[in-house]
Amino acid sequence: MKAAFIKQFGGPEVLEYGDLPDPVAAAGEVVVDVVAASVNGADWKVRSGQYSQAVFPLVLGRDFSGVVAEVDGGVDDLKVGDAVFGVLEAGREGAYAEKLAIKAAIVAKKPDGLSHVDAAALGLTGLTAISAIETTLQLKRGETILIQGGAGGVASFAIQLAKHIGARVITTTSAANLDYVRGLGADEVIDYNAQDFTKAVSGCDAVFDTVGGDVAQKSFAVLNPGGRAAFIASGAQAPKPDRIDVTSLRPAVGRARAPLERIAQLFAAGAIRPPEIKLYRLSQAAEAHRVSESRHFRGKLVFQVR
Ligand SMILES: NC(=O)c1ccc[n+]([C@@H]2O[C@H](COP(=O)([O-])OP(=O)(O)OC[C@H]3O[C@@H](n4cnc5c(N)ncnc54)[C@H](OP(=O)(O)O)[C@@H]3O)[C@@H](O)[C@H]2O)c1
Repeated sequence: MKAAFIKQFGGPEVLEYGDLPDPVAAAGEVVVDVVAASVNGADWKVRSGQYSQAVFPLVLGRDFSGVVAEVDGGVDDLKVGDAVFGVLEAGREGAYAEKLAIKAAIVAKKPDGLSHVDAAALGLTGLTAISAIETTLQLKRGETILIQGGAGGVASFAIQLAKHIGARVITTTSAANLDYVRGLGADEVIDYNAQDFTKAVSGCDAVFDTVGGDVAQKSFAVLNPGGRAAFIASGAQAPKPDRIDVTSLRPAVGRARAPLERIAQLFAAGAIRPPEIKLYRLSQAAEAHRVSESRHFRGKLVFQVR
């Protein structure tokens, strides 16, 4: 199979495109012919060596959409030819490839009305946004939430999910993406280059930060007493608040079929539409990583694999 992989950690230039052996289905697994795979922030962090040890060559990528090509005998709920989407097991990479093997139990059927490209774009971003907004923050109708980094993949999903729940949504973005986040449903938009969000925003019941660094740390300032904040771009631990009357949380983003089916259900209900997508071929992985690593684009970067 063709794949985009690394043989050493480093910059985007270490990404290679070439042939690797096809995977086979182990017990409880299916092999998927990948049609589309998306780029996530984690991918360039893995590529640059920020995560744990790897066995090279290492195929990058976590979420995908495709068609089941092979089924282990123990799997009875998926069959060859099923269109599926999913996210590889936590700590596993391998979606930037024409084929991957994955536990059947963490794959979901792709809705017919959702293209493979859109399904790949919604995989990890959807699991993460659902985990943060519904499971971790337990956002409720009528509450106000600040979502930092509104034009990004996870935040784009989170804005729409928060609106679907019935919350009031404030978000931050650069001037180029103001209309984009308004189109996703944001009630109030802060251009972070023109306004200091800590002065422009207050009275929030919740914060969801997808930016990290100083932005994460300063986010506690906008919370009401008793408010809660969730962080996904500050490493494995949530930052320590500089006040004692708020809660700082780090969503645990698991892999399971149920939250993928929740993505499908939200799409079917019209609550979530796919983000803006820029398409690449697997042979352009280095170029896609340069854009992702710049952290200034909108929506998702997706590989059209076949
Ligand atoms: N399981 C997990 O824990 C998990 C899962 C997925 C993602 N993540 C992490 O979550 C983060 C977000 O990922 P992502 O893929 O959604 O998006 P991303 O690609 O990391 O972020 C891109 C977006 O961030 C915006 N942005 C950059 N600086 C900003 C600032 N100072 N204020 C407001 N917005 C800013 C950019 O908008 P402008 O161009 O308008 O600046 C751009 O749209 C990454 O660090 C990723 O690694 C964690």
